[in-house]
Amino acid sequence: MELEGQNLRLGQITDIHLIVTNDEEDSLQSVKSFEKTLEDAKKFNLDLLVFSGDLTEHSYKEEYDLFFEMVKGYDRPWCFIAGNHDSARDLEKFSPVPVMLKAGDYFYKKTLNGFTIFFLDSSAGVVSKQQLEWLESEAKKEKGEVLLFVHHPPCHCGHLFMDSRYALKNWKEVGETLDRIPNLHSIFVGHYHSAMEVSRGNGQTVYLTPATQMQLDPDSVDFHILSKVPGWRYIEYNGGKLSTQIRYL
Ligand SMILES: [Fe+2]
Repeated sequence: MELEGQNLRLGQITDIHLIVTNDEEDSLQSVKSFEKTLEDAKKFNLDLLVFSGDLTEHSYKEEYDLFFEMVKGYDRPWCFIAGNHDSARDLEKFSPVPVMLKAGDYFYKKTLNGFTIFFLDSSAGVVSKQQLEWLESEAKKEKGEVLLFVHHPPCHCGHLFMDSRYALKNWKEVGETLDRIPNLHSIFVGHYHSAMEVSRGNGQTVYLTPATQMQLDPDSVDFHILSKVPGWRYIEYNGGKLSTQIRYL
């Protein structure tokens, strides 16, 4: 099902958690980490840079203003989805680029260099039925491989803290839909603040991308910060073949 001869360069920056509060240290740290990832991403001449949710800490207008102001300095194509710290309705209100919601959800697809890329909204902690039906029917129309970006992993990942506290609520239902999409092999997510690759056992791999904000310990049942070194993911399809690397900064 691989696309022969198709090339694509993507970047994924996730869990930025831009914060505007009275605590200047936290605010500054979030800005610095985001600046670093953006600067590094600029070196790669990406076809698309995806900000995959938790753009802000509180979904405040000031935090979105800061996000969009900082992204102005990035001059290649980019797009975003919402995470559980965002709200699709706030994004619709505060984004300077159009955000069209359908029954409260922000989801869409893009075609790039022959690839169809789907973007789903899990900001409510679930992926809604309307999105699952849309994804399945739209993916079926495609002859080649399709890609998926969604904030939450659609499965448990062996991350003791996140799996037990903050997993996608309807991961089983989402997984059943994904099982019916044979031309989907790669699912790119954030939310877990960890770099992992998890096989769903059906030819699909879930790529978890580390956060811009902080990395969490997957082997601890409690909240335990491993580091505050920001990371992001570079994704390349060369002749239809995927290679990907994590960049820590
Ligand atoms: Fe999250």
